[in-house]
Amino acid sequence: MNELILHETALAMVAPGKGILAADESTGTIEKRFKSVGVENTESNRRAYRDLLFTAEGGQQWISGVILFEETLFQATRDGTPFPQYLASRGMVPGIKVDKGAKPLAGAPGETVTEGLDGLRERLAKFKQIGTRFAKWRAVITIGDGIPSDYCIGVNAHALARYAALCQEADIVPIVEPEVLMDADNTIEVCENVTDRTLAAVFHELFTQRVLLEGMILKPNLVIAGKKNPWQADRKTVAEATLRVLKRRVPAAVPGIAFLSGGQSDEDATAHLDQIHKLGGGPWLLSFSYGRALQAAALKAWGGRAENVAAAQRAFLHRARMNGLAASGRWESALEQAA
Ligand code: 13P
Repeated sequence: MNELILHETALAMVAPGKGILAADESTGTIEKRFKSVGVENTESNRRAYRDLLFTAEGGQQWISGVILFEETLFQATRDGTPFPQYLASRGMVPGIKVDKGAKPLAGAPGETVTEGLDGLRERLAKFKQIGTRFAKWRAVITIGDGIPSDYCIGVNAHALARYAALCQEADIVPIVEPEVLMDADNTIEVCENVTDRTLAAVFHELFTQRVLLEGMILKPNLVIAGKKNPWQADRKTVAEATLRVLKRRVPAAVPGIAFLSGGQSDEDATAHLDQIHKLGGGPWLLSFSYGRALQAAALKAWGGRAENVAAAQRAFLHRARMNGLAASGRWESALEQAA
């Protein structure tokens, strides 16, 4: 393990005013996204769509790195440059989602555990060879009647730490993503409590399994009421609750925290990150690692048609810029109207 390489890569991923594009939708997930805009889920459409995101002119001003799905790692731009090589040449760090998805957890109805540890060491060695410098593993924690259980939180935290240790052994920076879903009807207080329990378990396991905190990035959810709850806290309350939990549970040695968007509206995802900065942030660099909140507008503008690529790139660059500004507390809602 090269501590310096890990630390420098982690810092580059959360460079001030920049953040990560999560474009690592599995074939099943991108099918859902494509279906919503009437695009057929073929290999060539997936390549064309990722191509338009990665080649958008000037994207590197706001995007520090891109998380790829395994298939994309072996695809190339229109002129034949492999995507990882192309991204690196433009100053965007290429990364890879290595987990195999959340599967039903035995004996725990309604809860999941993320799989993918078997053979991970060998896969990481292969990814490293083709230029991958960071990885992602997403654990899913569901809020519901009597859940999450400590059992579910515990096994997911354990797997996250096992993954992170293997990544660091290969000089690959692990993005550690314990996602507390925001899909239920719970209050913000419940989300705060569950996020608190989850992060406590995750950092306990990271410590036990000797993960170098200086060489990782945390990717958490915001502390926010469930989407089905009609009573939503204002943006400042969300930002305050999120910072409160992070300050309690995330050691200052962690270089950066990059939030997931989790189904918030595009503007909420931007505004919450901005508000967190305007409240003074914390001892870590605070940024974004958004999938939907960076891509939804672009996907809609594209609709699978070559003649819409320029419009889709404009839509993507707008969100990238808004989130880049938010990542240093310089976003204003007037900038959205101006666009
Ligand atoms: P969202 O920003 O759409 O939640 O996706 C981020 C991600 O990578 C989830 O694993």
